[in-house]
Amino acid sequence: MNDADVRDTPKVELHLHIEGAAQPDLIRQLAFEKKVDISGIFDAKGAYRYKDFLEFLQVYEAATEVLKSPDDFRRLTLSVLENCAANGVVYAESFLSPEFCGGGDVAAWQEYLHAMEEGAAEAEKKFGIIMRGIVTCIRHFGPDRAKASALCAAETAGHFITGFGMGGDENKGNQRDFAWSYDCAREAGLGLTTHAGEWRGPQEVREAIDDLGVSRIGHGVRCIEDMRLVEQLAEKGVVLEVCPGSNVALGVYPDLKSHPIERLRGYGVKVTVSTDDPPFFHTTMRQEYENLSRTFGWEDWHFAQINRDAAEAAFCDAATRKRIL
Ligand code: ADE
Ligand code: ZN
Repeated sequence: MNDADVRDTPKVELHLHIEGAAQPDLIRQLAFEKKVDISGIFDAKGAYRYKDFLEFLQVYEAATEVLKSPDDFRRLTLSVLENCAANGVVYAESFLSPEFCGGGDVAAWQEYLHAMEEGAAEAEKKFGIIMRGIVTCIRHFGPDRAKASALCAAETAGHFITGFGMGGDENKGNQRDFAWSYDCAREAGLGLTTHAGEWRGPQEVREAIDDLGVSRIGHGVRCIEDMRLVEQLAEKGVVLEVCPGSNVALGVYPDLKSHPIERLRGYGVKVTVSTDDPPFFHTTMRQEYENLSRTFGWEDWHFAQINRDAAEAAFCDAATRKRIL
C-alpha cells in the first residue's frame, strides 16, 4: 500500500484528548491574547517540551491555563477537527474534561459544552468530519472530583455526549475507586472506557473490565504480558483504543517494531488506531497509518478492518454509525 492510499483511507479515531490535540501555535496565540506567560512549556523549536509521562501531564495541564472561556474551547474544537479532517479522519470521539471547563460545576460545563458543540457543528459543515464527546475524569485528581465530572456527564448525556472515560496517572489509586462515577455514567446511558494497561500491567486491564464494566480500553497494550487475558479480550470483543505513536513517544515501547499492536491483532483482539495527543507526540492519523503500513506491512484490508471495528465500537447512535461505516 503506498503512502497516497494510506493518506486517503477514511479514518475513525476513538481516542483523542481535546486539550492534548491543541497545536502549540493556538496555545501561544491564546497565551498572547490573555497575557499569560507559558513559554516554559515549549522547546526552542516551539514544540511542547517534556521528558517523561509525569512531566507530559504537567505540561498538558499548564497548556490548559490559557483555555479559559467557552469561546476558547469553541476555537480549539474547530481547529482540532480541521486538523483531523486534513488527515483523513471522518469521525472522531474526543475526551472532554469538565475539570478544565468550569472545574466540575454543571452549569459552567453546560456553557463550555454548548461552545464545543458549536465548534464541532461548524467543523462538520466545513470539513465533513463528525465528532462526539466522551466526558472524562482525571485519575490523579481523585475519586471525589471524578464524581463531579460524572454528574456533568450524566446531566449532558445525549446525541453529542455519548461516553464517559478516565485519563491521567494510571499509577495513582485503583480503577475500583471510580466505580461510583462509572455507575452514574452507565445509568445515564453512556458508553464506558478508561485508560488502563498503558503504564500498569495486565491486572489493571482486568480491573477496568471487572470493576468498572467498560467495553473499551484506552491503550490496554500491556495486556500482552498475560496470554490468558489476551484470549479473554479477544473472546469478549473488548476494543482497545491503541495509540502507537503516543506509546513510543512516552517510552512505553522503544520503537514501533517492538509495539504489540500487530501481535494483538494476530491474536484476534479488536485493536483500533488513534493519536491520543497528536502535537505532543509529533504525529497525525495519517502518520500513524503510514508507520503501521511501513513497519508491519499493513494493507488496505488491515485498515478497513480496523476502521470497521472502530465504527462498530463508537459510542454514537445507530444513525450516526451508519454514516461512518
Ligand atoms: N491524558 C492525555 N494523554 C494521556 C495518556 N497518554 N495517558 C493518560 N492520560 C492522558
Ligand atoms: Zn489518552
